[in-house]
Amino acid sequence: MNLFDVYPINNIIIEKALGSNVWDDQGNQYLDMYGGHAVISIGHTHPHYVKRLTEQLNKVGFYSNSVKIPIQQQLAEKLGKLSGKPDYQLFLVNSGAEANENALKLASFFNGKKKVIAFKNSFHGRTSLAVAVTDNPKIVAPVNQTDNVIFLPWEDEAALEAAFKANEISSVIIEGIQGVGGIKVASASFLQKIRSLCDQYNAVFIADSVQCGYGRSGKFFSHDHAGVNADIYTMAKGMGNGFPIGGIIIAPHIKPAYGMLGTTFGGNHLACAAALAVLETMENENLIANAEKVGNYLISELKKFPQVTEVRGRGLMIGIELPESLNHVRKELLFKHKIFTGEAKPNVIRLLPSLALTMEHANEFLTAFSKELN
Ligand SMILES: Cc1ncc(COP(=O)(O)O)c(C=O)c1O
Repeated sequence: MNLFDVYPINNIIIEKALGSNVWDDQGNQYLDMYGGHAVISIGHTHPHYVKRLTEQLNKVGFYSNSVKIPIQQQLAEKLGKLSGKPDYQLFLVNSGAEANENALKLASFFNGKKKVIAFKNSFHGRTSLAVAVTDNPKIVAPVNQTDNVIFLPWEDEAALEAAFKANEISSVIIEGIQGVGGIKVASASFLQKIRSLCDQYNAVFIADSVQCGYGRSGKFFSHDHAGVNADIYTMAKGMGNGFPIGGIIIAPHIKPAYGMLGTTFGGNHLACAAALAVLETMENENLIANAEKVGNYLISELKKFPQVTEVRGRGLMIGIELPESLNHVRKELLFKHKIFTGEAKPNVIRLLPSLALTMEHANEFLTAFSKELN
């Protein structure tokens, strides 16, 4: 049997990983400034993570949501504490798309309305509703097309007000920092405007924090920089440091009912152990503060390169926009300097490393980057 060939891949086999480094099958060492697409939050094969997962696996790896799973409650408590939202309610799933799918559905159950506002260049996942609110017609199949989604220009407050006046809006979904869209930071005033319109019209504010959340921006949720609370936060990627887990946290005024949401795998013992190990490590090692410190340093150093068109982002979610003439730099970083980075079209290098990235690693990247630019 062949694999269904949907990924343009690099000809590299990774065999070993530790912290912010990975090694290929030829023994080459790489610096991971990509974190496997923003997934590696506390560093590869962190000893506490490996220990906690191994211990859990030796006890019980899975049982369904038909029995009590105390580790889910432990996770909810830790997440409430670290995110500063202890009164929210946690529903556990397995991926970012699934988190957004459930958030949009729950919003509609809550207020009985159908229309969703999403924004130009958004990415929210590939399943039915998640892809319908994603601004990329190439990945929307005919069966996913719906009249229920209204795409608005990014940061256009007048268009937002007009859309609320003209439609029965159920929810607004927004990434605090657009990832796939090229690392675009939503302004505090735009997020505050969404908050006030959602309050005025009884709509649900959904903060897609799948990529920009979980400490990456230097605060637990990047939307926190605006000083507003969303009604539902969706999360995945960094939550399990590579173990598939996602979740939504839900404000107290949205009440649950039996059967409203559900999943077979979501919240299983092993996934919860992974997620707890991540939060414990983030807390013990002050990783959110580290993301802010190392991220600020990288951003300020990157801004000094005259060849760079623009540097955008917050914490360790950084976009480096380059002119067309430098579109080879990302490949050179990988094959010459052995540094993994991400990309966004047309010509943005995306840095999404572990939140435990050290200043030495940051300097290693800057030295290689500087060599390639000059
Ligand atoms: C902002 C955002 N939302 C949702 C998703 C979908 O997550 P997943 O691939 O886990 O379904 C992604 C994935 O890149 C993302 O960046």
